[in-house]
Amino acid sequence: MSSDAFASPHISVLYHQIILALSPKSPGRYLDATVGAGGHAWGILDASSPHGQLLGLDLDPQALELASQRLAVFGSRVALVQASYTTLLEQLHRLGWPDVQGIVIDLGVSSMQLDTPDRGFSFQAEGPLDMRFSPNQPTTAADLLNRLDEAGLADILWRYGDERLSRRIARAIVQARPLQTTRQLAEVVAKASGGTHQRIHPATRTFQALRIAVNDELGAIEAVLPDAVSALAPGGRLAVISFHSLEDRIVKQFFRRESRDCICPPEQPLCTCQHRASITELTRHPIVADEDEIKTNSRARSSRLRIAEKREMA
Ligand SMILES: C[S@@+](CC[C@H](N)C(=O)[O-])C[C@H]1O[C@@H](n2cnc3c(N)ncnc32)[C@H](O)[C@@H]1O
Repeated sequence: MSSDAFASPHISVLYHQIILALSPKSPGRYLDATVGAGGHAWGILDASSPHGQLLGLDLDPQALELASQRLAVFGSRVALVQASYTTLLEQLHRLGWPDVQGIVIDLGVSSMQLDTPDRGFSFQAEGPLDMRFSPNQPTTAADLLNRLDEAGLADILWRYGDERLSRRIARAIVQARPLQTTRQLAEVVAKASGGTHQRIHPATRTFQALRIAVNDELGAIEAVLPDAVSALAPGGRLAVISFHSLEDRIVKQFFRRESRDCICPPEQPLCTCQHRASITELTRHPIVADEDEIKTNSRARSSRLRIAEKREMA
């Protein structure tokens, strides 16, 4: 097939590495758990021509609309569903797919989401403090900011944003409430951060922390990894791209644990856990973007790709 001519507002990160990792083949079945603008999905469908099939999931209906336009060229080889990847086993069951040969999970937020002020993900444009991946989710960033107590807010900023000034910022937020817009929040955070000299905008960590909390992103990653392994056919591959250390640590620890036959504490002389390795970790160290990719796509700078293969006997 000819190359992907779709002008996408989102450039897929580590695109070639994902296609190499999954090595899609016809007539394999593949799952893109975070289909977004459909960039990785396009590559998987192209490489698995003429009979490869792909299920694409995303929480965001706007992303699915874009993906459906871009992937229309593949006709009935593609199914797109608005759902969380935490329901992937149910979605595969509905399609009657017992397993898949490859799964990609490209975590986090897309450029479309960041660049749409109405979604409230960015402090660089004025918009409502929303930050939900799906409009069906009940809690927005404004709800958290205006309802949580100071300690609860500080905890979110500290745990999900690694924000050193979490308490000071939480206090300033509580004093400035109610907060309704991204600019209001960015200003409160900038003021609370005072003259501290920072390499990045002072609101960066607060916005990241709120987004993670609104969407329970870390809980979702913890939940999806075992299901993804169980959805893979023996020899099938799971590729996960993360964008910050909290996500990457969850993936790394899961891959380490699941690639070992015994997970008893090291001081225990005899194994009692009966744990059996279900995967082989193919990336001891994560794959990162090279300078050329970072030059054309700054989002790639913090990306980390880890790949695992399901064992034959798992
Ligand atoms: C970085 S983008 C994916 C881009 C895509 N790989 C591409 O090549 O165009 C991440 C996507 O994951 C989606 N997402 C986040 N959490 C999700 C979840 N729990 N279930 C499904 N999709 C989710 C977001 O809405 C966003 O569209």
